[in-house]
Amino acid sequence: MNDPRGDPRPIGVFDSGIGGLTVAASIRELLPAEDIVYLGDLLHLPYGSKSSSAVLEFTRAAVHFLVGEGVKLLVIACNTATSIAMRKIEGEVDVPLIGVVRPGAHAACGVTENRRIGVIGTARTVESGAYETAIREIAPDASVLQKSTPLLVPFIEEGWIGHPALAMVLDEYLHCFEGADIDTLVLGCTHYPLIREDISERLRSLYGRDDREVKIVDSARTTAESTKALLAAKGLLNRNFSTPRARAGTYRIHLTDYTDSFRDIGELIVGRSNFDPRVVSLNYDSGRVSYT
Ligand code: DGL
Repeated sequence: MNDPRGDPRPIGVFDSGIGGLTVAASIRELLPAEDIVYLGDLLHLPYGSKSSSAVLEFTRAAVHFLVGEGVKLLVIACNTATSIAMRKIEGEVDVPLIGVVRPGAHAACGVTENRRIGVIGTARTVESGAYETAIREIAPDASVLQKSTPLLVPFIEEGWIGHPALAMVLDEYLHCFEGADIDTLVLGCTHYPLIREDISERLRSLYGRDDREVKIVDSARTTAESTKALLAAKGLLNRNFSTPRARAGTYRIHLTDYTDSFRDIGELIVGRSNFDPRVVSLNYDSGRVSYT
């Protein structure tokens, strides 16, 4: 594109809920000039316990909706949708797709010293083996221990962050890493960065050693970095920051269902002034998405 202001089209970000706003917020931090169009499929949340065919159908509708919104690149900020559906859908649209699994795998391989990596995620993500595959592609000698942790999303959505009941659930889940000598744990779900402190506290209490701490990685930052690199490589960055009429990028947040119970967490992630969701209803039928 020859326009010195670059490409003004927005970046699409999709998640099954509002946890993917953690990825949107990281993109905003790294690329403050970009507009972001977000879709959270709260109507079908959680994807993590649905069948693979349902996850594929919901993800397809979401991707086609965001492409219809004129995005120049689409981030699938949902580990479950990335693991189950991304490869099957990418040939259907003409904008580049970025998922969260490969960036998360890169982050883990970048920090592990002993190449023993733990992964926690939803049932579908763990079952798909997507993280294990991605990590082994980067570090073939890595050993990967996965654990599905399905109760964590409901705890987070309930706002039970820092809650003693969450500590008990984490202890139960994290026990499987005992004796495995992992030095890195991947948060393979877009909600989990919100309980990073709880996880790190329980890991310290269960396996704490003076000489070493388990490093915790998530894909938000590395996905934002991949987004920036891909936009730059394709000449699609929005350069309006370098023009006299520079302005900060905006958020347009769409949700397929909404109750006020999501407000606190949404505002916590993107800030009160940016969290102004609009409810849309998606229908995917024979390759066409309609919405109201
Ligand atoms: N966004 C999902 C993920 O990252 C977690 C919530 C869900 O199960 O839909 O896997």
